[in-house]
Amino acid sequence: MVTFTSHNPAQTMALGESWGRAAAQGLVLGLTGELGAGKTQLVKGMALGLGISARVTSPSFALVNEYRGGRLDLFHLDLYRLSHPDQVVAAGLEDYLDRPPGVAVVEWIERWFQEEIRTSQRGQPRRPRLYRRVLIEVVDEFTRRISYEDSGP
Ligand SMILES: Nc1ncnc2c1ncn2[C@@H]1O[C@H](COP(=O)(O)OP(=O)(O)OP(=O)(O)O)[C@@H](O)[C@H]1O
Ligand SMILES: [Mg+2]
Repeated sequence: MVTFTSHNPAQTMALGESWGRAAAQGLVLGLTGELGAGKTQLVKGMALGLGISARVTSPSFALVNEYRGGRLDLFHLDLYRLSHPDQVVAAGLEDYLDRPPGVAVVEWIERWFQEEIRTSQRGQPRRPRLYRRVLIEVVDEFTRRISYEDSGP
């Protein structure tokens, strides 16, 4: 895991922006962090880096917001309201989490991967081909410790 310390919302956005510039088709970013940690702030940066001009807002009852018109389509999911992976499947979100037709950024990813527990029918952990796990910890009002695994672009 790589750790980046962000001292303000703009620095968090800038990190997301660099990820957006480098993102490859099919990338899934799984975000974990308490309410108000800065997950949506990272997604705003991702949109910028992908060249998407629309304003990013939190997905509400739709659970997924789609942003087109950038270098790759961006799918912003928020699983906060779902308590079990079965609900993710029932909501029709599984494809976004497996092989998104663009880039998927998923707030509250732990609702889906209750980490290594979830396995596919073949018994392999269900992970997208390109997956980056991101953990945001709140240090103080403006400081965030952002840790992520880097498995390439
Ligand atoms: N260094 C920082 N990085 C990101 N956000 C910060 C930072 N410092 C302060 N903030 C503030 O923290 C809040 C982060 O809100 P954001 O909506 O991104 O959180 P979230 O993790 O998506 O929460 P939720 O789980 O409710 O969706 C914003 O109000 C932002 O201004
Ligand atoms: Mg959010």
